[in-house]
Amino acid sequence: MKLLWALAALLLCCWRADASTGPQVSAEPSEVSNQTSAVLTCNITDSSLPIKGSYWTHNDKVLDNSKSSSSKYASYNLEKITYQQSGHYECVFETETGPKLKRAIEVKTLPHVAAYKRSEHGNENDKSVLTCVAHGYPLPTDWMWYKEEGGEQKPIVNSTERYEIKSTPNKTMLTIEDLNIETDGGSYLCYGTNELGQNKDAIFLRVRSRLAALWPFLGIVAEVIILVTVIFIYEKRRKPDDITDDDDSGAAPLKSNSTTNHKDKNVRQRNAN
Ligand SMILES: *[C@@H]1O[C@H](CO)[C@@H](O)[C@H](O)[C@H]1NC(C)=O
Ligand SMILES: *[C@@H]1O[C@H](CO)[C@@H](O)[C@H](O)[C@H]1NC(C)=O
Ligand SMILES: *[C@@H]1O[C@H](CO)[C@@H](O)[C@H](O)[C@H]1NC(C)=O
Ligand SMILES: *[C@@H]1O[C@H](CO)[C@@H](O)[C@H](O)[C@H]1NC(C)=O
Repeated sequence: MKLLWALAALLLCCWRADASTGPQVSAEPSEVSNQTSAVLTCNITDSSLPIKGSYWTHNDKVLDNSKSSSSKYASYNLEKITYQQSGHYECVFETETGPKLKRAIEVKTLPHVAAYKRSEHGNENDKSVLTCVAHGYPLPTDWMWYKEEGGEQKPIVNSTERYEIKSTPNKTMLTIEDLNIETDGGSYLCYGTNELGQNKDAIFLRVRSRLAALWPFLGIVAEVIILVTVIFIYEKRRKPDDITDDDDSGAAPLKSNSTTNHKDKNVRQRNAN
């Protein structure tokens, strides 16, 4: 119980300290939402504080061009706001002695949504995973997938048919199981939505037949078959050539000679007998 009181007291003291430093810096505007440009400003309300200088941070990174010395007033010009400029800004005043005085301004834009790969291909009966990522602040709180069919967008419902959707604020993945060559090819759209609205991107999916995946292999097989056939035909054509060559050089007369020789031999043999 004592510990609880101590904790409560601690919380109260810190909350009070926070409350007392909070109003020492005022910010204008307190938030930037869906704007193309803005000037962020901060003032020190207590003019008795000795200020050394000020600077701005964006997502906790110091903006080098924002440093200024000894001023109770700080401003930062956002000329063209895209998702890259969105995020958490802070003006920071450095005092001679005490702690830094800060005030935050949130700059919000529509989420930036981009396909991880603009075109994907999968083989029939395999699965395919389509991915979209988001950048900017705030990140999408909702993701939706659609398939384009005859100029219309058909919503894809998670865990129905062969679909499964997995989403985090910065990424969504649509898995399509057992790809169908007739129905699954085409354009898929991912929509990321935050409090300001939505953005989308498209991915084109091509489904190849299993045979198409075999084409390179079949090509090699065909090449080998053709090569073997050519060699075979060449060899076959060469052999009769050799024979006719022999004929031309008098193989047949030789043959007849040999028989005649043989006959002659017989005759001679007979004569000898
Ligand atoms: C800060 O002070 C300047 C002039 O001193 C004034 O024009 C501006 O409106 C003030 N801004 C805020 C946020 O109080
Ligand atoms: C889709 O359904 C699966 C399984 O039912 C679940 O794990 C996943 O979180 C769901 N995705 C979304 C975006 O709701
Ligand atoms: C997405 O968010 C997770 C956790 O919030 C983080 O680890 C990851 O780096 C982020 N990815 C991108 C691409 O920003
Ligand atoms: C933000 O601007 C976009 C167009 O740039 C618009 O579609 C959207 O409705 C706006 N959001 C709000 C909350 O005004």
